Amino acid sequence: MEPIKAGIVGLGRLGKVHASNVQNYIKDLELVAACSVVPEELKFAKESLGIQKGYESFEKMVDEAEIDAVIIVSPSSLHTKQIEYAFAAGKHVFCEKPLGVSLPEIEQVKKVIEARPEQVFMLGFMRRFDESYRYAKEIVESGEIGKVTLVRCYGIDPSSGLESFVKFAKNSSSGGLFIDMAIHDIDLVRWFTGEEVKQVWAIGNNFAYPELAEYGDTETGAALMKLKNDAIAILVSGRNANHGYHVETEIMGTKGMLRVAQEPEKNLVTIFDDKGVRRPCSEHFPERFKQAFINELTEFARCIREGDKPDVTAKDGLESTKIALACTKSFETGELVALEDE
Ligand SMILES: NC(=O)c1ccc[n+]([C@@H]2O[C@H](COP(=O)([O-])OP(=O)(O)OC[C@H]3O[C@@H](n4cnc5c(N)ncnc54)[C@H](O)[C@@H]3O)[C@@H](O)[C@H]2O)c1
Repeated sequence: MEPIKAGIVGLGRLGKVHASNVQNYIKDLELVAACSVVPEELKFAKESLGIQKGYESFEKMVDEAEIDAVIIVSPSSLHTKQIEYAFAAGKHVFCEKPLGVSLPEIEQVKKVIEARPEQVFMLGFMRRFDESYRYAKEIVESGEIGKVTLVRCYGIDPSSGLESFVKFAKNSSSGGLFIDMAIHDIDLVRWFTGEEVKQVWAIGNNFAYPELAEYGDTETGAALMKLKNDAIAILVSGRNANHGYHVETEIMGTKGMLRVAQEPEKNLVTIFDDKGVRRPCSEHFPERFKQAFINELTEFARCIREGDKPDVTAKDGLESTKIALACTKSFETGELVALEDE
């Protein structure tokens, strides 16, 4: 059977990872078109990945390339309008997190998506496709650790990426630390507990990179949350892990607790040398979640092929963004923020 033909928009840090995964590892999906505003990226797509058609305009790619699906890996502030355009043109859409950076736009795009149930929409919360997180989810669902009372999450980018985060913040398209980074942990809290958040209190600072404050962003942030059933969530998000990419999750239940990546180890190697006994750390998101990124797009293709609905929906995008925006508001005002009931 011919693979499903797709176009990708965005070939930056993550776009290149997705594009290379599709071309090399996902049999049922093929990229025949790519869109970027950076000419060298289109050259790379053609020469290194065999993606023949290159576009500088997203709309032109959707209108002219003969594709059934679109993979959106552009700056977060462009997601909602690109999803709307692609959906109106009858395409299936996979979109990177976050769904958007403004609530009215997200609410609007959610309506557009839900009005066309025959088209597949999937949001890129890739941690749900990581083997360890899936195993943890099975344990929680089995009731083995009892009722979840608390979820504690760390999501801290490597300090080696700080320069690029200053640039990222300057372009102000990411939505800030809570929308860009904490949103992964917010999704995990919702996924593991099945509960929505009632109240948040968020704080932060910029000790390592005061420049981030100039652009209204935060280098290290923390949020304390009360869920609707009174369970607790504690999130720490940041851009300054000197040892590497630190993603760690703990779930406490009434009968036990579990941790995912208690130490964010790179692999099973231990080094014994003049510095002592060391376990190298995972270095960045493409390494830590390599297989999860492949798994999520494999699932996107399967859903298109079998007419199935992905597990990660527009509602997940909306609810997680509401919570992230509440964190941002709490951080900015210093106040406890209550989320409105539906
Ligand atoms: N799941 C994850 O862990 C994860 C990790 C990194 C990034 N992301 C998400 O992926 C998205 C992209 O992030 P990134 O770090 O790869 O960004 P990036 O800045 O490295 O790349 C952005 C890409 O978008 C393209 N672009 C910019 N404006 C455009 C326009 N008007 N039309 C078409 N293309 C345009 C650029 O040419 C570039 O190829 C963001 O939404 C981000 O939140 C997710």
